[in-house]
Amino acid sequence: MKILVTGGAGYIGSVLTRLLLARGNEVRVLDSLIYGGHALLGLFPEDHFTFIKGDIRDATVLRKVLSGTNAVVHLAAIVGDPACARRQTLAREVNLEASLQLLRLSQELGIQRFIFASTCSNYGRTADPLVYLTEDSDLRPVSLYAETKVAVERILLNEEPANGLATCVLRFATVFGLSPRMRFDLTVNQFTMELLTHGKLVVFGEQFWRPYIHVRDVAEAICLALNAPVEKTRKRVYNVGDSSQNYQKGKLAELIRANFPAARIPDYQNR
Ligand SMILES: NC(=O)c1ccc[n+]([C@@H]2O[C@H](COP(=O)([O-])OP(=O)(O)OC[C@H]3O[C@@H](n4cnc5c(N)ncnc54)[C@H](O)[C@@H]3O)[C@@H](O)[C@H]2O)c1
Repeated sequence: MKILVTGGAGYIGSVLTRLLLARGNEVRVLDSLIYGGHALLGLFPEDHFTFIKGDIRDATVLRKVLSGTNAVVHLAAIVGDPACARRQTLAREVNLEASLQLLRLSQELGIQRFIFASTCSNYGRTADPLVYLTEDSDLRPVSLYAETKVAVERILLNEEPANGLATCVLRFATVFGLSPRMRFDLTVNQFTMELLTHGKLVVFGEQFWRPYIHVRDVAEAICLALNAPVEKTRKRVYNVGDSSQNYQKGKLAELIRANFPAARIPDYQNR
């Protein structure tokens, strides 16, 4: 398969690109390299790898990179609540407007599959944290980041795409694990880094539950969606996580701390 990965130099993208190449696909990465391009450096000798430095807001670049591909995995975004809150106009342009432009051009150019990276943040805060959320649960975005993702999802899932394009939405849990482009703003990675390097971790919101998933499992899920029978993915949404990987932040911190016996997690009174 010939696959365009937008945001392929990022945390998930640089793991996914390697997996797709290892499975014999041709991969074209489009990325504006906000965080640099080091995560892709080792891939340049690969025969089936192409890199284009460019912005998904640029329609001319999009036409060029889409031509000749079968599938799009759309990861490029301003990612997370803090980043979107800091750069609101950019977040709307990239996460919403450019995503829709990419969708329209994919339809026009006869691409077969379009996988959209969405997030479990779309569900917002739930009244009862012990009730499992499913793909049918209400979406209650509480940040601009989630609002932009929900807005794109609605179009992908409700509009009849032209030219037979099969659109699929994957709502990832919070990701963790090693990647060539590391993110230390993600809970598990951050906790591990702080316990290892500072020997101390202050946890806020110990009681909050979140779902987690390893970055390689995210890459596997995307591969699965790319290769699944098209009727299983067309206009479908899937939560990408595991019910056994839901943790309260306090419990998660304790589990990680067990690997660093000298490190400590002060309680509220001793902070
Ligand atoms: N990491 C998580 O926990 C998580 C959870 C749920 C959903 N997601 C989604 O997965 C996708 C990838 O996330 P990530 O963790 O790899 O983030 P990341 O920030 O590491 O990667 C995003 C990549 O997109 C690129 N990019 C940003 N704006 C661009 C633009 N205008 N044009 C071209 N490239 C641009 C960046 O340079 C970066 O390489 C995002 O859509 C994100 O919303 C991530």
